Amino acid sequence: MLLILDTANVDAIKHAMEYYPIDGVTTNPSIIARRHSDFWGLLKEIRQIIGEDKMLHVQTTQKTAEKIVEEALLLKKELKGSIYVKIPISEEGLKATMQLKKLGVCVTMTAIFTPAQALIAAKAGADFVAPYVNRLDNILGDGTEVVAQIVKLFKLHGISSKVLAASFQNAEQVHKCAMYGCDSVTISEDIPKTLISHPMTDKAVEGFNKDWNSAYGEKTILDF
Ligand code: G3P
Repeated sequence: MLLILDTANVDAIKHAMEYYPIDGVTTNPSIIARRHSDFWGLLKEIRQIIGEDKMLHVQTTQKTAEKIVEEALLLKKELKGSIYVKIPISEEGLKATMQLKKLGVCVTMTAIFTPAQALIAAKAGADFVAPYVNRLDNILGDGTEVVAQIVKLFKLHGISSKVLAASFQNAEQVHKCAMYGCDSVTISEDIPKTLISHPMTDKAVEGFNKDWNSAYGEKTILDF
């Protein structure tokens, strides 16, 4: 399963790249706007941190297919490497996706809330479809169930598009998506730590340290 970071916070990206097995970075206009930064400067810095082999997903700001295609080609040219243009699902977005696939541009169709949307996006050629888990949960929907249905549909119909579950509030939602066979998740910078933390782990390590120190003091294996 791919683990992608949903942020444009360069310090958080640097940290995650050093400490976690991160496969790339996703952004959206809200995430970028929050940084109050020069667009190309910020995105190129992120590319420089993650390298050209890791995926970078950047969302178009355009509304018509023609302009989406134009912007997508510019994003691909400027940001190089493994680039995925995020396009919110709409008629114009689907039209642009079909054109971009012919031009060899990778697409992540985003703002997906139903399995039907995911199916059409995949048929149009989207490499990834991004269902929004927590935003569905927030309106009394069941975000992880929608992800499960999309995964099932794609298997049933032999669809090769990947499911990139997005919009997470907690580690439980991420875990459920993994259990449902979701290909990939994009998570905010605070979730990786939550995923690896457990009070019993801390207690176990505390016990190991205490027993070791009672026998060998402050010495470590390197001192023998
Ligand atoms: O990047 C799209 C998605 O992850 C948005 O998440 O937390 O704004 O619902 P959120």
